[in-house]
Amino acid sequence: MKKEKIVIRGRKELHGKVKVSGSKNAALPIIFASILSGDLELHNVPELLDIETASKLLEYMGFYVERGDGILKVQELSVKTETPYELVNRMRASILVLGPLLARYGKAKVSMPGGCAIGTRPVDLHLKALSKLGADLRVDHGFIVGEAKGGLRGAEITFDFPTVGGTENAVMAAVLAKGKTVIRNAAKEPEIVDLIKALKLAGAEIEGEGTDTIEIRGVEGLSPILYRVMPDRIEAGTFLSAVAVAGGEIVVEDFPYETLEIVIDKFREAGLKVEQISERKVLVKKVDRLKATNVVTQPYPGFPTDMQAQFMAAMCFAEGTSVIEETIFENRMMHALELKRLGAKIHVNGTTAVVEGVEKLIGAKVNATDLRASASLVIAGLGAENTTEVYKVFHLDRGYEKLDKKLSNLGADIERVEIYEEEREEV
Ligand code: UD1
Repeated sequence: MKKEKIVIRGRKELHGKVKVSGSKNAALPIIFASILSGDLELHNVPELLDIETASKLLEYMGFYVERGDGILKVQELSVKTETPYELVNRMRASILVLGPLLARYGKAKVSMPGGCAIGTRPVDLHLKALSKLGADLRVDHGFIVGEAKGGLRGAEITFDFPTVGGTENAVMAAVLAKGKTVIRNAAKEPEIVDLIKALKLAGAEIEGEGTDTIEIRGVEGLSPILYRVMPDRIEAGTFLSAVAVAGGEIVVEDFPYETLEIVIDKFREAGLKVEQISERKVLVKKVDRLKATNVVTQPYPGFPTDMQAQFMAAMCFAEGTSVIEETIFENRMMHALELKRLGAKIHVNGTTAVVEGVEKLIGAKVNATDLRASASLVIAGLGAENTTEVYKVFHLDRGYEKLDKKLSNLGADIERVEIYEEEREEV
């Protein structure tokens, strides 16, 4: 893979219009739901590394995948129910093939997943739920091996924690299980609602999406899935952060307003002007220096953990001291160390960061440590003096469609530069 860095010469205001891409976290489970239907046509699919990984995974398993112009088509050919370490290790969401494989084929062998290094991120809750549905699961040489002789059966599942991926896996498995499944303490994230909408259009019988109790009546089979993915709420929120730091006034199109209420509230509390001008369009304007604002990450509808790093970047420049608490992942403060290289005053104690706003940051070389951390560093660079260079850009490319290009179109001085052999990527 070509190695690149992002070079930002900061302190340019943002102006103009930008359109939010399709949601990565909604697209991935729907793509894997093609295992249930054998046939999928998905629209508004973002051009991302994680989507490429998902496509390769399906191809490896014997599906025909076609991609282009935001449309992804999947057709079942001759399926094998195994996934290799090399692909699963790149993306934790690969675990989402487990439920569909067990439901449709009664067996699966899936490598234990990798993905962002933001904590230990076990998959025990996924496995517990699938066992309840009658799967016989064991871990063998780094693989999860599962069998459901005679098929899955509906069951009562109560999650210890409202896990997003666990809920998605359980829903997909239950869609083809015999009888009724009730999932309690289910996650309520909008991406799960999007997955369920796609499944229902293909004939699944599901109620309660977006609440903490989801009921599913198993059906014999699904018809082809034809769906348009929702816009990415985290990308949309990232543009709020970008204006909060760089200043200016932009219009964001395809903005999933109803899914971002708490994020909008927090930015407004900090003094950013966010005005809904039509159902899916907002005007974002920075009027004054931002005021320090506290956030605590929570499962939806709380403040999303995937916006924590970008919000912290904005708070680095705010007037006063903010407290940012991460409650979802135990190791999701790595961006704080990198932000400090730019001169941010942040004190991290466990999963809490105390951010003392400063008048200015000064550009430096920084390392992206995970997907959302990479966005937070790009945003900090937009507000920093001199030049900021963000390394390990592949993290950004996993989950943001052309973020640098979109920011450049808005007037940021940002470019992607290839790294040559003699330049070390570690900084
Ligand atoms: C999804 C999102 C990710 C987001 C996260 C929380 C996708 C592809 N990814 O990840 O961007 O940050 O939701 O909103 O949609 N846990 C367990 N055991 C399990 C499962 C989870 O202990 O079996 C823990 C995790 O370690 C973590 C917490 O539960 O601390 C939340 O994880 P979960 O909601 O499952 O997140 P993901 O589905 O992995």
